[in-house]
Amino acid sequence: MCGIVGYIGNRKANEVLIPSLKRLEYRGYDSAGIALANNTTCQIIKSVGKIINLEKKLNKKDLDSYHLGIAHTRWATHGAVTEVNAHPQQYGKITIVHNGIIENVDNIKEKLQRENIKFKSETDTEVIAVLLNKYLESNFIKTINKVMNLLKGSFALGIINQDEANKLYIVKKSSPVVIGVGDNENFFASDISAINYFTNKFIFLDDNEIAEITQEKIVVYNGCNIISKNVNTINTDINDYDKKGYPHFMLKEINEQPQILKNTLTKYLNDIKLLPDLTSYQELHIVACGSAMYAGMIGKQLFEQQAHIKTYVEVASEYRYQEQLYNEKTLVIVISQSGETADTIAALRKAKKQKQDTLAIVNVKNSTIARDADNCLYTEAFEEIAVATTKAYTLQVALLSLLSLKLAYDKGYITDLDKYLKDFRQLPNYLKKVIAQDQKYQEIAKVIYKSKDVFFIGRKIDYAICLEGSLKLKEISYIHSEAYQAGELKHGTISLIDKGTPVFAIITDQSIADKTMSNLIETTSRGANGYLITTESLKTGFAQEIIVKDATNFVQPLLVIPILQLIAYYTACLKKCDVDKPKNLAKSVTVE
Ligand code: AGP
Repeated sequence: MCGIVGYIGNRKANEVLIPSLKRLEYRGYDSAGIALANNTTCQIIKSVGKIINLEKKLNKKDLDSYHLGIAHTRWATHGAVTEVNAHPQQYGKITIVHNGIIENVDNIKEKLQRENIKFKSETDTEVIAVLLNKYLESNFIKTINKVMNLLKGSFALGIINQDEANKLYIVKKSSPVVIGVGDNENFFASDISAINYFTNKFIFLDDNEIAEITQEKIVVYNGCNIISKNVNTINTDINDYDKKGYPHFMLKEINEQPQILKNTLTKYLNDIKLLPDLTSYQELHIVACGSAMYAGMIGKQLFEQQAHIKTYVEVASEYRYQEQLYNEKTLVIVISQSGETADTIAALRKAKKQKQDTLAIVNVKNSTIARDADNCLYTEAFEEIAVATTKAYTLQVALLSLLSLKLAYDKGYITDLDKYLKDFRQLPNYLKKVIAQDQKYQEIAKVIYKSKDVFFIGRKIDYAICLEGSLKLKEISYIHSEAYQAGELKHGTISLIDKGTPVFAIITDQSIADKTMSNLIETTSRGANGYLITTESLKTGFAQEIIVKDATNFVQPLLVIPILQLIAYYTACLKKCDVDKPKNLAKSVTVE
């Protein structure tokens, strides 16, 4: 996803903007650019590819006189990956960076072209610059309001108006943007991580708000009316940006899991009443995207099997448009690492509009979803830099599991709570042992990394685990992979099983162990290269077996997850993929 940053103060602007832009690289991008302004001029420098290409151009220029600027990493939506389409976009006196999508851009552009306006780029962002210049008046807040009312879609804008080159303007609608409050200097960015190196004080803009910032002052408007906003002090762990000796952030974050599970869970294990009471609900709707949705699939199995509450898991991009059959006893649980996923935000807002109670499970503090939901549980995983989620996903599963344990206990289905809490307390140690079998996962990766297809099969909660295992492999190694209900494989997809096709069967649920084992044999008898991931008590002596310790139903899935994360990681390394920043992927999908 695109990232925007801005700075105004006494420092050399490019010495703030470039490091900040690098902090947004994890969001995924394909070009970058910067605009530096003073009272006489506004220089724009852009490049395709990585930020290093932009730096090479900057190094050739004298930029010391610029103390105000905006910069951008572009994840192409409208228009090809070219320098012309990179941001900042400029028209007349207006220079702008944009994260989001303008949905009615074609109509607006056609009208402007009929007025003989000539466009240089294919972007929707340039259209915004043209409109701001067209309606430019001395009261720039009025200009911005007028243009905002013409636009449909999502936008976080950083704007320089050459007539006021001692100010920056920021506009928010659906796409995230945060203001960093400095000492005689101010910043803005798509998320805290880009500017938490310079300040720990932040103002979060809400939709349809405009900020006018100078070196000394921040004024926030809703419409043309000045409003007051809180300044939040947020101390984040900035050493998240240090790989600490690991070759990739992803491997570091996989290895952090035991510790962050302990950090997050301990307070709840000491006092489970700190978790929300869900006994008044008759139905749960878990709504999310990608891995977060797959975490929800594990949650569904535990809520239904252990707490006997009907639980639906919905893809947020579908949920937001489907007719929802709620009743007043429905709780909507939204899950999001970034807290800024556009589809999940839309689903949350739909639920709130229908007066449903909402609970968020989020990693990024004070993110849009964390602020919008009625109640929020944080996964406390610190910053997750690798685009492919690992530690945040595992924490999502862990919190859902604890919530289902509490609900099962509150409803009387479980009486010996201490037994289960003890197992959770052991979880970090269990996980360390699983992660320590590193060599085994590397060996498997050596066998599978040249495969064309890889399959993960399981039933019930094991199928839910397969979903994320498959997604992790394909999103970082680019190998086609599918998770399949084990009983379903023979209804078509088994035709893809060739000699040597890797098939991972996951069996942690004793009630269907034999069934899934038969399904695995169905594939190996057709030449598949089968792997069985199972527990000590369910082990079969299968040729390629990975055994995890027996644990309670609530903890068991969490012991399998790192195995699949590490197999995916080592496979991607052998394929020399960009493990931390896989192609085409963005860390936070802030557009539809
Ligand atoms: C990244 O590894 C995930 N695979 C991706 O699907 C992610 O889970 C999804 O985009 C949702 O992101 P969120 O958790 O920030 O809402």
